[in-house]
Amino acid sequence: MLRVGPRRADGYHRLATLFQAIDLADELELEPAEETVVEGFPDTLVTRALELLGEPRRVRLTKHIPAAAGLGGGSADAGAVLRAFADGRDVDELYAIARELGSDVPFFLSGLETALGMGRGDRLTPLHDFPRAAFALVLVPSDEGLSTADVYAACTPNPVFEAVRGDLIRGVHTARDARGVAALVANDLQPAALTLRPQLTDVLEELLGRGALAAAVSGSGPTVFGVVADRAEAERLASRVPGALPASPLG
Ligand code: C5P
Repeated sequence: MLRVGPRRADGYHRLATLFQAIDLADELELEPAEETVVEGFPDTLVTRALELLGEPRRVRLTKHIPAAAGLGGGSADAGAVLRAFADGRDVDELYAIARELGSDVPFFLSGLETALGMGRGDRLTPLHDFPRAAFALVLVPSDEGLSTADVYAACTPNPVFEAVRGDLIRGVHTARDARGVAALVANDLQPAALTLRPQLTDVLEELLGRGALAAAVSGSGPTVFGVVADRAEAERLASRVPGALPASPLG
């Protein structure tokens, strides 16, 4: 569900990707302050979001989402900061700031549970009917992160991008159950992530060997995820794979 097309004139790649919010979240507390200070975790995207908003705050950030993991944790924090200022701000201005912060930030600003991301991942189509209650996930984070820019630099764009983009757009509307969701799983960044981190291949094989319906690298990695039928199965599988956590789609 992450298809990478040719590089655009602005240096970003064309994308067709599926965003799904899950029940894994960081905690952010914001208080008025003379200047921005982020306590708990030096998250540059939160600081940058407050700078672009022109709203200095003292921030207490409690991280639960692994950082540099390909799970969108930094983008989720930045999106949450923008959402905190949604009242009284122009929506277009907030989306412009979100795009400046990163390609994934508009999704986290939107508050949508499921969306297709087109353009560079910033143009969203809501998917209200996605079968979120019909599957669960197992996440296997790594101790060491991967740089998104490094993974894109090592990636080969899909030579049949238009075709696989069309398949994804149709597929998200026809998936009805966990098998249908598993059939959508594909990541054009995965070969690059595996070149940079070959040991992720073992994690993919372990999830599939233990019964996951599909498994792939999440985003630019290094987190690997597996699709299973329900939460109980996710918990069972996660208890057998070191470091793994169960997760459920929101919505
Ligand atoms: O948008 P964001 O800042 O998250 O992107 C980080 C890096 O990932 C970019 O600098 C670029 O190298 C790569 N990227 C890309 N095409 C996209 C999104 C990200 O090449 N659509």
